[in-house]
Amino acid sequence: MRKILVTSALPYANGPIHLGHMLEYIQTDIWVRFQKAMGNQCTYVCADDAHGTAIMLRAEKEGLTPEAQIAKVQAEHEADFAEFLVNFDNFGSTHSEENRELSALIYNRLKANGHINVRGIKQLFDPEKQMFLADRYVKGNCPKCNAEDQYGDNCESCGATYNASELKNPRSVLSGAAPVEKESDHYFFKLPEFQQFLKDWTRSGTLQTEVANKLAEWLENGLQEWDISRDAPYFGFEIPDAPGKYFYVWLDAPIGYMASFKQLCNRTGMDFDEYWGKNSTAEVYHFIGKDIINFHALFWPSMLSSAQFRTPSAVWAHGYVTVNGAKMSKSRGTFIKARTYLNNLTPEYLRYYYAAKLTDKVDDFDLNLEDFVSRVNADLVGKVINIASRCAGFVKKSGGKLAAELSNQALLEQFIAKGDEIAGLYEKREFGKAIREIIALADAANEYIHAKEPWALAKQEGKAAEVLDICSLGINLFRQLMVYLAPVLPDMTEKARQFLNIDDLSWASRSQVLLGHALNDFVPLMGRIEKEKVDAIVAQELADAAKEAAAAPAPAAKIEPIAAEIEFDDFAKVDLRIAKIVKAEHVEGAGKLLRLTLDIGEGKTRNVFSGIKAAYSPEELTGKLTVMVANLKPRKMKFGMSEGMVLAAGPGGDELWILEPHEGAKPGMRVM
Ligand code: 2FM
Ligand code: ZN
Repeated sequence: MRKILVTSALPYANGPIHLGHMLEYIQTDIWVRFQKAMGNQCTYVCADDAHGTAIMLRAEKEGLTPEAQIAKVQAEHEADFAEFLVNFDNFGSTHSEENRELSALIYNRLKANGHINVRGIKQLFDPEKQMFLADRYVKGNCPKCNAEDQYGDNCESCGATYNASELKNPRSVLSGAAPVEKESDHYFFKLPEFQQFLKDWTRSGTLQTEVANKLAEWLENGLQEWDISRDAPYFGFEIPDAPGKYFYVWLDAPIGYMASFKQLCNRTGMDFDEYWGKNSTAEVYHFIGKDIINFHALFWPSMLSSAQFRTPSAVWAHGYVTVNGAKMSKSRGTFIKARTYLNNLTPEYLRYYYAAKLTDKVDDFDLNLEDFVSRVNADLVGKVINIASRCAGFVKKSGGKLAAELSNQALLEQFIAKGDEIAGLYEKREFGKAIREIIALADAANEYIHAKEPWALAKQEGKAAEVLDICSLGINLFRQLMVYLAPVLPDMTEKARQFLNIDDLSWASRSQVLLGHALNDFVPLMGRIEKEKVDAIVAQELADAAKEAAAAPAPAAKIEPIAAEIEFDDFAKVDLRIAKIVKAEHVEGAGKLLRLTLDIGEGKTRNVFSGIKAAYSPEELTGKLTVMVANLKPRKMKFGMSEGMVLAAGPGGDELWILEPHEGAKPGMRVM
């Protein structure tokens, strides 16, 4: 029996769980349930990530102490996870005594090993709030293009990156005061000393290939010391020998994995060292999103190794969730909170859809709402449940007991044998492939029943035994599917287990064929998703976004004043044309641009770079008609020539909408 400890990233305790988060928790929970079904001892822990400036300020805004604020959010998070059937063995908080002790222990070991450095750094300081300002708490004019209202790290308008102290007319987002530069001592973790260790560790099968390749580039470029301290006021743990200095939230966050597990050990008597000790033979896996790879694959293993703990067996990253091909967006109603979903739909629909499309890769994941409805209805209701609902009635009519033997066991043997391959796919986190195999089995079961037509036979004299024989095989096939789907659909398969009148749905149990076995009454297992429910979710999110906007009117939404009048002749110089977006692609290294190939009629195409990446995914744009400035002088950009410009409305960022002509317009037509 393998001993396995599994974690998902710790959600910040300052906001609700949304469907983007849920991809990871569902992915992890499926993997854990699968391991348990295989008979392994698999433990799943998580916690709220409770520290940091954002949480401190959020509590202040709500008029709560940070402790009260994080307790409130934690209760909401736990309720959301429980209803999505995410089954943690322990859910803790990074603001716990266990975490305080482990963080101090690890820090003291790093220090004793000479891996901590203290030096003064200069930072912007808010004289009114009396606190240092992280980059996102300073705004001002871009030092390069002078655009107003830019954050302290990069310019939304021209894409320049800089230090907060370079901003022109800087002001504190918190108080509006002009910040001053001030020096203070910071504590650094000497990451560069782990260069060789990390080169080996990242190539030792602990990471997905694409992740290891990306990290290899960073490792080649050299590593920098990591700033692990923040000055008071800060919500977190004070550094043991440094009054007024706090551990940066990302120092104690991963230690929170250990602390949550420690809590479980204290409660159940499990052995902490068996999992975290230097010579542990247990397996430890972290499921994370691709945005936090550096914390988990560089800082974390280095800290663990210096502090004489074991390092993770693997870190597995997934991509971001997009909805209908675009980044989740409040203004489109696609920033869907877990709670809004749960108020309208059963969690298992989403669990199934996520499973059906998940791979072991880091690619982004598109939750296409139309595809979601049709896929779940077609696969689960139309194919899987259909098998049981077609067979159960006939078995009941003949006394509620399955046949004592089956005339055709070959098909069942095939289903049982497939279990090894499906298990291999779950193990490798190739859930989409596993689901494809399972649905192919469902198709085979349906074909068998369809060909045998028990409903027709049932109308004939003397065919009762044959009907029972067919349906008993059907129920046995269905039972195999329930074993294979149990990690994904725990509630539905539990109802099925009761109907099947069997003890469990463990992987091994499937080899026992159900013969002469009494069934319980069939209960409806799952209804169809109604499209209206999905619409209601989006409508609710739009309403929430409108409410939020009304409470805090966003300055970005302001309408710009109309520009000075021009002569008609000036306007006529602008040659606007209908263009068809035949291809849209991401541009390597460009944060805001998409490369568009535009069909402008008569077989001519144009290559245009457009700053609409935050608002649209390439898939969403492909095939759309839009309006372009066709006679704009080609401009040489960093990524190539841009031959024109696509028209879009809105303040910017993800709030941009391209212009689309009314039906009937054709590429190349002049717009006047
Ligand atoms: O990115 C985040 O949402 C962090 N709260 C994840 C922390 S994971 C772990 F390291 F604690
Ligand atoms: Zn700029």
